[in-house]
This record gives sequence, C-alpha cells and structure tokens, in this order.
Amino acid sequence: MSDHRQKALEYIQGHKIQSLEKMKEIISIPSVSTDPERAGDIKKAAEWLKRELISLGMTRVEIYPTPRHPIVYAENLSAGKDKPTALIYGHYDVQPEDPIEEWNSDPFTPTQVGEDLFARGATDMKGQIIATFSAIEAIQNTGELPVNVKFLIEGEEEIGGSHLEGFIKDHKEMLACDFFLNPDTGMQAPDLPTITYALRGIAYFELRVQGPKQDMHSGTFGGAIHNPAQVMADLLSGLHDDKGRVTLKGFYDKVLPLSKQEREELSKLPIDEEFYLEQGGVKALWGEEGYSALERTGARPTLEINGLYSGFIGEGQKTVLPAYAMAKVSCRLVPNQDPVEVYEQFTEYLEENAPETVTWELTQMSKEFPSISDRNSKWVQAYVEAAKSAWGKAPIFKREGGSVPVVVHVQHELGVDSVNIGFGLPSDNMHGPNEKIHLPTFYKGIEALVHFFFNLTQ
Ligand code: BES
Ligand code: MN
Repeated sequence: MSDHRQKALEYIQGHKIQSLEKMKEIISIPSVSTDPERAGDIKKAAEWLKRELISLGMTRVEIYPTPRHPIVYAENLSAGKDKPTALIYGHYDVQPEDPIEEWNSDPFTPTQVGEDLFARGATDMKGQIIATFSAIEAIQNTGELPVNVKFLIEGEEEIGGSHLEGFIKDHKEMLACDFFLNPDTGMQAPDLPTITYALRGIAYFELRVQGPKQDMHSGTFGGAIHNPAQVMADLLSGLHDDKGRVTLKGFYDKVLPLSKQEREELSKLPIDEEFYLEQGGVKALWGEEGYSALERTGARPTLEINGLYSGFIGEGQKTVLPAYAMAKVSCRLVPNQDPVEVYEQFTEYLEENAPETVTWELTQMSKEFPSISDRNSKWVQAYVEAAKSAWGKAPIFKREGGSVPVVVHVQHELGVDSVNIGFGLPSDNMHGPNEKIHLPTFYKGIEALVHFFFNLTQ
C-alpha cells in the first residue's frame, strides 16, 4: 500500500467526528425541493455546499441558478491532463418530511440512536455527499490528489422535471470527464457492498376524474349521478390483470427480456422473498407472475398508485357525492421503454375505458428513461477492489428499482458511464418517516471511496 493511501486511511479514522458533524450541519437545513416555502433553505444548502467545496480546496466553485433550484459545480484539476477525471454527482434536495407525526424525533434535528443517525436526507443523500467530501479531504490533506475531481450537485432530483439535463447539455466542456461517480444508490446490507448496474426510468402522472360541478348530497343524487371516486376506483383497478401484469396496450412491447444468464446471476444474490416480507412487514408478496421479487422490482416495469384523493376524508361521516377524484400514478420503466409512449398508452386506456358520465384529465409529470451501466469498465473495477479493501469482500451487482435520472443524461450528453454506489441500506426508511443512516456503514463508505480514488490511477 502506498504511503499516501495509508496516511489518508489513518486521516479518516482520526476524523470520524468531523465527518459526522459536517453531515449534521447540512442535514439540519430543510432543503425540501418540492415545497415552495423552503426555497430559502434550498438556497442555504447550496451556499453551504459552496463554502465546503471551497474549504475542500476546489479551485473553482460556482452556484448556477436554474428556473427553479440552483446547481452547484466545483472542480480541482490539479492532478493534470494525464490523470483521469471523475465527475461526482450529488443532490442536496430531500423529500418532504410528512407524515411528521410518525417521526420519533424532529426530521431536521439529526438524532443519534445507537449506530444510526436519524434525519430526513441522512441516507438520501446528504450523508453520501459528505462521504465523498470526507474521502477527498483525507486524500488532499495527506498529499496530492491522484485524479482530477469535478462535483455536480443539484437541488431538483426528488421532483420531476429537473433542469439538470439542460444544464449538462449546455456545459459539456466544463463537465467533460472519464466517468461519472453516482453515490445515490445503496448497499443491500451492511456486510454486502453493492454496485448498481441498472436503474429504472419513471413516467409519473396525475389523473383527475371530474363528475358533477360541485360536491352533492349523496342521498338526493347518488344513483342518478355517477360517482367520480367510483369511476376512479374502476379505472385504477383495471390497470393490472389477475397475473399482476400492467394492462396498458403495448406496455411490454419494448421491454428488454432478461437473459438466462442474468436471471441465473440474480437468483444467486442474497436477496430473497424473505427480505421483501421482512422489509414491508406484510403477510405475502404480490407482483407479476413468473418473476422473482428481485426481478419484478429491478428488471421488470411496474405501475404504482402513489396517492388517491376524493370526497370526505375527515373524522366522522359526511354523506357526499364528490365532485372529483384525483390519483397520482407512476410507472417504473426498464430498457427500452419510453416514458412518453407510456403516456400515450395511458391516454388510450382512458379513452377506451372512462365512461361518458365523467370527464378526465391526465397530466404527465416525470418522464425519465431507464439506464444500464457497463459492469466491466475499469472504473467499476476500481470500486470492486475498493470494496474488497474496505469490507473484505467483492461487491454484489444488482439492478435498482428506483430512479436516478442523471445517469442517462450523462450517458447521452457526455458519453460516459456511471459507477453507481452508495452507503444507504434498505432499512434506512428512504422517503419515509424516521429516515436514517447507519454510521458504521457511512464510515466504511468513506474508506471505500479513499481506496477507490487511489485505485483509479493504478
Ligand atoms: N436515491 C434515490 C434512488 C434510489 C432509491 C437509489 C432506492 C437506490 C435505492 C433517489 O433520490 C430517488 O428517490 N429518486 C426518485 C426519482 C424520481 C423523483 C424522478 C425516485 O426513484 O423515486
Ligand atoms: Mn437520492
């Protein structure tokens, strides 16, 4: 092991508290991107990052405004032209904290319980941003950077319609790199380092079904006027057949089938039905017939109802025939599906199945393509070796059911592939109440990143 690597590893061991404190600082800023009232906090988070990146020795640090939330860019190219350049991704925005009453501590007051730090954004993904900062800091403070480093940190990942794609198109030269490091995925378990080689795309919709011009008495008018909540329920229940397949016409036409070899590989991963049963605390699993739960969540497309609203949902009773019903519906997509085609398929379904008694409106919010990343690049290999050094075992390769849209955009616009890693765990309650990060895994992650950056030039 090189002397520099050894010193950097010692540095992170001696600076765990500093890393933890940094993470707590950024987590305490409630940068909820979807909430217009938090625009000030979003700005604060971007400015916090700018300050940190400057003190991290980045030679150029800029905040680029967008029509919504700013993008933070930084670079240190001191390693020189003959060394590889890593473009490191992050998003400093977080999901809303609701339902607030289900949190055991304040979502924006980082609270340590045992080995976990609880707070919104801890695992998704401020902790991971700090892990990359801590690794770079350790390397810089003990010697010279072995690679050129660029940071691209957005504030719109958790909402549809991020401006990052346009930004990448407009700044190709500035963002030029040899590969993209995306620390926004996770690990399967604390002792299972993981490389994610596929992420699903997403088509997100809001469906509104309009009935009478206003809420009406359900006794006087029920039976004569079609209830839009009932229409909505009928429409939604028709979106799956009894084999758990999505019924939209053409939905599966472009789906790339799993090869026999990949199915075999996936079946060997230590991710069984028991894992899903336990994570969800459910009695039984559900999904598309003929596929394992892991295949259904990673390699097959799905359709989910994300939210439903109609009529009276307060305490007690109210005999009302609601004026409208609303549902949020999203499809997770796999190669080679196209999110705009899914919009057309959904529209066709509604045209064919919505009764004449109502009117409806379908709006598309997200339209993001799925991605598959090269598993054999030297950048991935550098992480395989890094994981072996940090955890003592080779990482598993898995597909992820969630989406990180930027991965496709850098593939298309910059022509580079992504190393998708991260230190969040399935039990970290991502997007839910009591989000947390497992601190021993976070520290191991910093160690893995230090190895990774050194491995890149070897
Ligand atoms: N970090 C997640 C993606 C993810 C989820 C990675 C689970 C690994 C495991 C990311 O921040 C996220 O939640 N993305 C959204 C994107 C959407 C709003 C376009 C998602 O997947 O819902
Ligand atoms: Mn994330």
